[in-house]
Amino acid sequence: MLDITRNALAVESLTKTFRDGGRGSVKAVDNVAFQVEQGEVVGLLGPNGAGKTTTIKCILGLMRPDSGHVTVFGEDAQTNYPRILSKMSAVLEGSRNLYWRLTVWENILFFSALHGVASPADKRYFDHLLKLFSLEDKRNVEVRKLSQGMKQKTSVVCALARRAPLVFLDEPTLGLDVETSLELRSVLRELSCEEGRTFVVSSHDMAVIQDVCQRVIIMSEGRIVVDDNVSHLMDLFRTRCYRIVLRGPAPEGLEKRLVHEFVGSSVAEGEQGAEIKVNLSEDEDIYRLMDILRGVDGVIDEISHEEIDMEKVYLEVVRKERSFQ
Ligand SMILES: Nc1ncnc2c1ncn2[C@@H]1O[C@H](COP(=O)(O)OP(=O)(O)O)[C@@H](O)[C@H]1O
Ligand SMILES: [Mg+2]
Repeated sequence: MLDITRNALAVESLTKTFRDGGRGSVKAVDNVAFQVEQGEVVGLLGPNGAGKTTTIKCILGLMRPDSGHVTVFGEDAQTNYPRILSKMSAVLEGSRNLYWRLTVWENILFFSALHGVASPADKRYFDHLLKLFSLEDKRNVEVRKLSQGMKQKTSVVCALARRAPLVFLDEPTLGLDVETSLELRSVLRELSCEEGRTFVVSSHDMAVIQDVCQRVIIMSEGRIVVDDNVSHLMDLFRTRCYRIVLRGPAPEGLEKRLVHEFVGSSVAEGEQGAEIKVNLSEDEDIYRLMDILRGVDGVIDEISHEEIDMEKVYLEVVRKERSFQ
């Protein structure tokens, strides 16, 4: 029996369907269940349309789910709404949660004051955040005059300022240039270590999740397809991606056979000989691979682990899930 009181967040059987004028319906969130422990930084990863934003909106009470339960720090979110909102803050995807004619500092003060957070100690914390996000010199600049990246960072600062213990960041790096995206990720990492707050970060980009989160929940078409530690997930796949170099050119029919047996494998003619890249889905597949190579009289010159490409892993997981439907 799970003990939901120890968790920052527990989501049970969450389902949300959108109907489009009677023509059809989309199950945006389909029986989703997961828990987040206090202090955890969890990534919600999935391609566009996977249901990440809808899940977050249902948790925040911005959307009413068809069914399901949300528990925040042991309290039922629905029956304790809106009081429960004092425990959560969020930056939603593409949201304009800032007043453009107010300065960065005024925005922070405004949104914190709404929640009764405005003591001198709070203001020292706001300054700390500005420093952390390299926004100190923009303190008195109107938000409308900031770059996209600075606006986004200001949004995140405003969401963090009142120190809600559970923070949702929906696609925080969307539309940012590479440099700002990397900066934001590193600040989030620092902040999560420093403060022990609980974060749920959604992204369609594996690199962002890999960089910021300890755990990843992969969603596809409204459902959770993977819920695992990022490092464990990487280990799992690291052991199964091989690069094999054969002596001489690729034997006749080898590529066709490999592609048929192991999705995503490839054979190329390298300088030394045929270069095979193969991604095995089960540990036992290695024996099957060896049998195939033996069957075509392939002589192995070199065998090594391929560098893991998490993006590929993630796309593969999502692709597999779709092909099961
Ligand atoms: N307000 C809405 N009305 C109708 N359909 C919606 C609405 N919001 C989301 N959807 C649909 O629900 C699915 C999930 O969307 P969303 O939660 O935004 O996914 P993600 O955030 O993972 O990109 C998509 O098919 C999307 O088109
Ligand atoms: Mg979204």
